[in-house]
Amino acid sequence: MNRRYRKTIIAGNWKMNKTASDTRAFAEELKPLLSKAKWCDIVLCVPFVNIPAAIKAFKDTRVAIGAQNLHFEDHGAFTGEVSAAMLKDLGVKYVIIGHSERRQYWNETDLTVNKKVHAAIDAGLYPIVCVGESLEQRELGVTMELINLQVKTALAGVPAEKMRHVVIAYEPLWAIGTGKTATSEQANEVNEEIRAIIRRLYGARVARSVTVQYGGSMNAKNAEELLAQPDVDGGLIGGAALKAADFTAIINAANQE
Ligand code: 13P
Repeated sequence: MNRRYRKTIIAGNWKMNKTASDTRAFAEELKPLLSKAKWCDIVLCVPFVNIPAAIKAFKDTRVAIGAQNLHFEDHGAFTGEVSAAMLKDLGVKYVIIGHSERRQYWNETDLTVNKKVHAAIDAGLYPIVCVGESLEQRELGVTMELINLQVKTALAGVPAEKMRHVVIAYEPLWAIGTGKTATSEQANEVNEEIRAIIRRLYGARVARSVTVQYGGSMNAKNAEELLAQPDVDGGLIGGAALKAADFTAIINAANQE
């Protein structure tokens, strides 16, 4: 991380876990533990139906609430979908876009990711755009080409002045939910490339201000080493964000003097 130029953001992605009652209980457990969180922003991306409970439970704290998806259209006949305006109206600040699970199970593509990024920005939400390669792609040596394609397509048409709303999360598929974390060197190498892509698109000033997270089996034990890397500006955390103590340990790792 580099706190001089950009925000460190520790974000939990609860995926399809916890009820609204669980959310309230988690908030009561987490809130007293946050005293050391001085420098990083904290986000919890909860299931849609838990958003009102989460907003209420974390009111007047440092924890911002995020969603895990949105639809790119403003409104209309899209049964089961949720728009950016609906999220904004509830008080949501962040929204995860293009998570690999959505790409894998719901056929999201780089092009729909791009539409969702625009929908989020237009509504005043902060997109957390997920990119990352599979194990096969890494072994074939095409990781950087893939990351270039994903990042450039996701950001197509996004003007430079809106880039301060955009967060990118590098999440290698082989590290998600597997307990197999990227080494800090692997994480930093790809995050550095993501910043280089942003530099080529928008120039050095924008590039150094964008938060680029790492996600994939980040936990209480490995967070400090990952966050010590210059281009790892936080984490997008799945499993370890479901337990208040583990999530706090990661937050504390981001708040070392
Ligand atoms: P895990 O931390 O459980 O590996 O999940 C990472 C992730 O997908 C966060 O979006």
